Amino acid sequence: MKAQAAEGDGVLLVEAPYGSGLYCQALALREAVLRQPLGLMLAEEERADDALRRHFCATDQGAVVGSVSLKKLDSGTVQLRQMAVAENRRREGIGARLLARAEDWARGEGYRLIVLNARLGADGFYAAHGYLAQGEPFEENTIPHVRMTKRLA
Ligand SMILES: CC(C)(COP(=O)(O)OP(=O)(O)OC[C@H]1O[C@@H](n2cnc3c(N)ncnc32)[C@H](O)[C@@H]1OP(=O)(O)O)[C@@H](O)C(=O)NCCC(=O)NCCS
Repeated sequence: MKAQAAEGDGVLLVEAPYGSGLYCQALALREAVLRQPLGLMLAEEERADDALRRHFCATDQGAVVGSVSLKKLDSGTVQLRQMAVAENRRREGIGARLLARAEDWARGEGYRLIVLNARLGADGFYAAHGYLAQGEPFEENTIPHVRMTKRLA
């Protein structure tokens, strides 16, 4: 069994400002984890939209091993996007830490609701962290997704 990622294990959670070296590494990870397996590439509009989002990543020895982005939808609502953990680093708790970091940031900014489109298969991950599925599954990037939401305390 793999060890859970925790403070002191070398995995750091940091912001990856748009355009920074960390952001570029995170972009490569997103492409490798979220698009290449589907035979897709990150769309130009997705990259352009990145300038409007906040990006956080998990690093180990300076290498990005996980990434997540957040986009403001309205004054109380933020959308969580592009959650990805490197294939060889899953089930170590890195995803959970990225989610907690994203939620802490959102809470601190005064957002009251997080929304996301979860891939079917990853919905169990979000459900385990308090996200509720809303409505019927729909197709996005060629695969089924379900909308999920979480109210921030
Ligand atoms: C989904 C993903 C981000 C989870 O990251 P991770 O680092 O492996 O997750 P963690 O190790 O923090 O797991 C946290 C918990 O969720 C559970 N979990 C993780 N992936 C899960 C899944 N796909 N389905 C159900 N539960 C899952 C784990 O068992 C763990 O629970 P536990 O603490 O009770 O053991 C990662 O699997 C991933 O990058 N997948 C490919 C890309 C993807 O699908 N991204 C989501 C797009 S919406």
